[in-house]
Amino acid sequence: MSMLEERLREIGQDHIADLVKIGSPLISLKRLEQDLQEIDSKTLVDLIKGKGMFTPPKGEIEPPEVIPAAFAVTQDARVSRDRGETLITQGKVAVVMVAGGQGSRLGLGGPKGELEISPVKKKSLFQLHSEKILALERRYNVEIPFLIMTSRANDTETRRFFEYNAFFGLDRDNVHFFVQGMIPSITKEGKLVISRDGGLFMNPDGHGGTLDALAKSGLLKMIGDRGVDLVFYFQVDNPLIKMCDPLFIGLHAEKGAQMSSKVVEKRGFDEKVGVIAKVDGRTRVIEYSDLGEEYMYLEDIDGRPVYRAGSIAIHVLDRKFIEDIVLKQTNLPYHKAIKSIPTIDQDGRPVEIMGIKFEKFIFDALPFAERSLTLEVKREEEFAPVKNKTGEDSVESAIILQNRLFRSWLERAGSMVEDDVKVEISPLFALDVEDLLSRASEVPSRISQDLYIE
Ligand code: UD1
Repeated sequence: MSMLEERLREIGQDHIADLVKIGSPLISLKRLEQDLQEIDSKTLVDLIKGKGMFTPPKGEIEPPEVIPAAFAVTQDARVSRDRGETLITQGKVAVVMVAGGQGSRLGLGGPKGELEISPVKKKSLFQLHSEKILALERRYNVEIPFLIMTSRANDTETRRFFEYNAFFGLDRDNVHFFVQGMIPSITKEGKLVISRDGGLFMNPDGHGGTLDALAKSGLLKMIGDRGVDLVFYFQVDNPLIKMCDPLFIGLHAEKGAQMSSKVVEKRGFDEKVGVIAKVDGRTRVIEYSDLGEEYMYLEDIDGRPVYRAGSIAIHVLDRKFIEDIVLKQTNLPYHKAIKSIPTIDQDGRPVEIMGIKFEKFIFDALPFAERSLTLEVKREEEFAPVKNKTGEDSVESAIILQNRLFRSWLERAGSMVEDDVKVEISPLFALDVEDLLSRASEVPSRISQDLYIE
């Protein structure tokens, strides 16, 4: 019996071992071996047996402590912001962007980051994020390592896009790609599924895979060697991201937090965002699908949701905290989803079956933090996610929201922007409204046609 066949039988996968034994053309030994190398036997057996799965927290759920958005304009905030700026200037901060998702809800083929999203110039998400980092590097005269998590499906294309666009002006030596892990799907009976290319059907292991992938790629060590203490983490799909927000970073450091989160007030009781809550004294994110209706619809005396701190998936993590999680092999739990899986039938014909996909979520690291901090920010200033083809949280809505924000900055700088005119300000001209105010004399006093300011 070959080693491969033996391993498959050991883990109860005789249906595939039998095909290997007869040398079936449905199987590619090379692919199968490669796929099985992605995962150790123990984890695989755990998945099949349903061990290490996420279970909704059973403890007492309470509203979290949140620093309100209004804090940003106080005197104390200035102190925290200064602290954040000092940390950035000292090179203590690296950026991690997760861009491994498949954009399936958007019906996209390639990486989501290539979506053309800015209102006038139609810049891609990748370009906007890169230019914000470049603007910060210039402002603070520092190099900021930019770590981009891709997945097997979009890694080559993502690298190619950055190459082709000359890294959007960034020093290519500071841009690092790393590929997230893959995890096999199984049938409801616990059987691995053969993929159409003769290996196993696998999917990216979720953004919870970021921490392991950072360690495996050597990048966690690399940033440590460079003196980085903090990781600013965000999702590729939000063009309004306030990159390395010094206030957020400063507050995190002042509190000695290990992992911190940004939130916005939920649009309504059932907006599809995770909420921050306290369970048994520890802060965590409860995903919308896991928040029971008794909590989701709970009102405070003003009629607002009690659980309204909507996570916008922006975090600061201590590098040491990440190292701890990885070194102690603290396994983040797997979340299950029933999905349609492309495979082949006995005769090699393509079919779809319903099976279980597994994913890990980064925010499941939060309860491991002894200290964490939650900062509320204004949705209209920092959150315009692109999730759907049309309607709410779509390309269309993200363009409207960016346009609205730029218009408000220009109006504060004394400019009159006519109705129905689209405006866009390059991050390299002004990263925020304060930047724009300091350059108000360079802004036209009246804007009557679409305008890109660079
Ligand atoms: C996510 C959060 C939700 C939060 C919302 C804010 C989860 C489960 N939920 O919802 O709590 O309120 O964002 O916008 O994440 N990604 C990878 N690799 C993967 C999977 C995802 O890199 O294997 C990246 C995607 O590229 C994307 C991001 O993670 O940028 C979020 O994934 P998505 O599936 O869009 O999460 P949401 O359901 O939108």
